[in-house]
Amino acid sequence: MQDIVKAVHSWMIDAGEQIKESLNREDLLIETKSGRKDLVTEMDKATQDYLIDQIMAYDPAAKILGEENGLDQLADLSGRVFIIDPIDGTMNFVLEKENFCIMIAIYEEGKGRFGFVYNVMKDEFLWGGPEIGVFNNGKEIKAPKNIALSEGLVGLNSPMLIHNRHHETDISDRSLGIRMTGCAGVELIALVKGQRAAYVSHLAPWDYAPGGVLLETLGLKMANISGEPLSLSGRELFVGGTPQAFDELMELMHQ
Ligand code: IPD
Ligand code: CA
Ligand code: CA
Repeated sequence: MQDIVKAVHSWMIDAGEQIKESLNREDLLIETKSGRKDLVTEMDKATQDYLIDQIMAYDPAAKILGEENGLDQLADLSGRVFIIDPIDGTMNFVLEKENFCIMIAIYEEGKGRFGFVYNVMKDEFLWGGPEIGVFNNGKEIKAPKNIALSEGLVGLNSPMLIHNRHHETDISDRSLGIRMTGCAGVELIALVKGQRAAYVSHLAPWDYAPGGVLLETLGLKMANISGEPLSLSGRELFVGGTPQAFDELMELMHQ
């Protein structure tokens, strides 16, 4: 394992242990952000702080784009940038105590070099990048089969299906079924492992960048609703899938 991969992996395992310990606490501070369905807990903030401390000790020149603590904007992607989602699926963390991930992407001069997605309670850790391939708990995984929408499941979020602004009901009809897990990391792991034909959701950079590096390394496709590269700034409609399913989605969503 490359030095940086080994380091990030060990920080995320440590962060996962701290999060697991917090699950028994009854006094965990939980706040809302943009609305009652948008939660942040003290563990989201503490985990991001912990990861940033490790990153800064390792590479003081690194830049951070992180969901919490006012670090959610970055002027540009020059240099080495760590993109952090300390707990992806905070609602699941609070209510289910499972189905959440810790996620980090490392970009260099605007290009995705490494992605790390750790489903903490499932002990499932995927990492990789264009130079090293993709690994699931240390075992290299191959590109999933290039299945069509009609041959697989699609991850969607419930508001999208309810409002049907981009023909989501047609996507549902064409596929073998819709799955809604409430965690982008869980969905992107499933896509990388070949358990989904596609995933569509409104996502922020820290939601899609870590899994996105893994997807693209394995030849899967992702873009915004216009088919353009995702910008890594602000929320966008994320469309990801096998090459076949991706092309079908673009057609269906623009009919
Ligand atoms: C959320 C989850 C969810 C997705 C939301 C994200 P958070 O992340 O990934 O699945 O639908 O758009 O914001 O806020 O729990 O880190
Ligand atoms: Ca997230
Ligand atoms: Ca989060």
